[in-house]
Amino acid sequence: MVRQSKIAANAADINREITWFREILKTRSSLNARQETKYKSVYDIAPPPLNGSRSVFADFIQEHDLDFEERFLLALALVPHVKPELLDMFLVKNETTGQIYTEFGGKRGKNHTGFIPTGETAMFVLAGDNLQKRFSLQRCFDGLHKFSRENILSLENIDKNEPMLSGALSISQEVLDMFTIGEARKPNFSPEFPAQLLTTKMEWPDLFLSPHVMVQLEEIETWITHHDTLMKDWGMEKILKPGYKALFHGPPGTGKTTTVALLGKKTKRDVYRIDLSQMVSKYIGETEKNLAKVFDRAENKEWILFFDEADALFGKRTSTRDAHDRFANQQVSYLLQRIEDFNGLVIMATNLKGNIDEAFIRRFQSMIQFPMPTAEERHKIWTNGFSISVKPDKDIELPEIAKKYEISGGAIINIIHHCSLRALGRDTNRIQLNDIIEGIRREYHKNRRTL
Ligand SMILES: Nc1ncnc2c1ncn2[C@@H]1O[C@H](COP(=O)(O)OP(=O)(O)O)[C@@H](O)[C@H]1O
Ligand SMILES: [Mg+2]
Repeated sequence: MVRQSKIAANAADINREITWFREILKTRSSLNARQETKYKSVYDIAPPPLNGSRSVFADFIQEHDLDFEERFLLALALVPHVKPELLDMFLVKNETTGQIYTEFGGKRGKNHTGFIPTGETAMFVLAGDNLQKRFSLQRCFDGLHKFSRENILSLENIDKNEPMLSGALSISQEVLDMFTIGEARKPNFSPEFPAQLLTTKMEWPDLFLSPHVMVQLEEIETWITHHDTLMKDWGMEKILKPGYKALFHGPPGTGKTTTVALLGKKTKRDVYRIDLSQMVSKYIGETEKNLAKVFDRAENKEWILFFDEADALFGKRTSTRDAHDRFANQQVSYLLQRIEDFNGLVIMATNLKGNIDEAFIRRFQSMIQFPMPTAEERHKIWTNGFSISVKPDKDIELPEIAKKYEISGGAIINIIHHCSLRALGRDTNRIQLNDIIEGIRREYHKNRRTL
């Protein structure tokens, strides 16, 4: 479906949902005032049927098998975003106290001038003064309920001295996106969401890796496509830990980052790269909070989480010299725990070989060493790397160059970049041997090697 028709389908279904929702509010208010109503209980008001409906909204409700109460909660959390004025009835003030009625719950936003429903608002509408109903409704805010497990809807955290139900009811951004524009938007990188979508213009055949690495990558690919069958249909959920963890290690420039990007591209999964260097925050607890957001959004989303240059995680974590180290240790422990519990694919990359402690290694289902490319692989990277628009001079023999200089794929690409710029600077498309040699010298120099 194109975006416009997705939007139209959602709008039609949500309109009907809102009509149902409004009827419930009206009925609760009449019941409360002991006025005549069409219904004896709000539960008698049947939600609009969704069969035959093709909207993302309708699919969502059906797929998640939401019952009356769950559907109402979702509508209540949705309304401030789509039709806030519907809740204005809660803003009337109690004449005696001059405040809004305690039983309505709710709060005012910093910017939003309308009524923001809380857990208490839901209780008021659904349970009224029926305590038994009120207690049984708490199930929807339990950590094991699908609302929480699948990051659909939650109660905002409140101070420990206040009742839990005074937290605002909050619908996740993705669910909101799906209900409105019909698809989840990709989150942007920010200090609060320290992960970035990793993409590449390269294609799988542009990657030249040793057969040994390729075979191991196939297992990861198989996991990506078949993990649902493995865990659910084969019933391995109770035996295997959730998710799959892989570690890519090897010298810089050997294609680790590129491989992760291409794995995502090949299997049509989004890869989110988390930069640990951006993670250290001045405020204790901030890092955990931001990382939690990434994991929460990634959960059940088929995202690949990629910790690039994850060296910071691999130092031995036993010696604690000062407060700063302790802080770092605490963050590392938090991160490892989240990685362990994550039900998707996590890939980490590091340039360090040794120094990884045993306890850590046991957590990975797969450890792939990316070796320096062989002469043959280097030749392919050289040949494939140049633009088809350039003409190498006659004296350039790529097979010879590939054999003679043992450098990484990344270094080769840097040299090709250098030579191409030199040619453009001379206003030609001819690549010169001199420039290649000069480029190689520079790369050697970076690693304190000489030609
Ligand atoms: N095996 C390879 N095959 C093709 N290109 C490679 C290979 N290894 C490295 N490259 C090239 O070098 C660049 C840098 O590689 P990268 O994936 O960043 O290495 P790493 O993450 O291991 O440091 C890539 O963009 C790619 O163009
Ligand atoms: Mg890299």
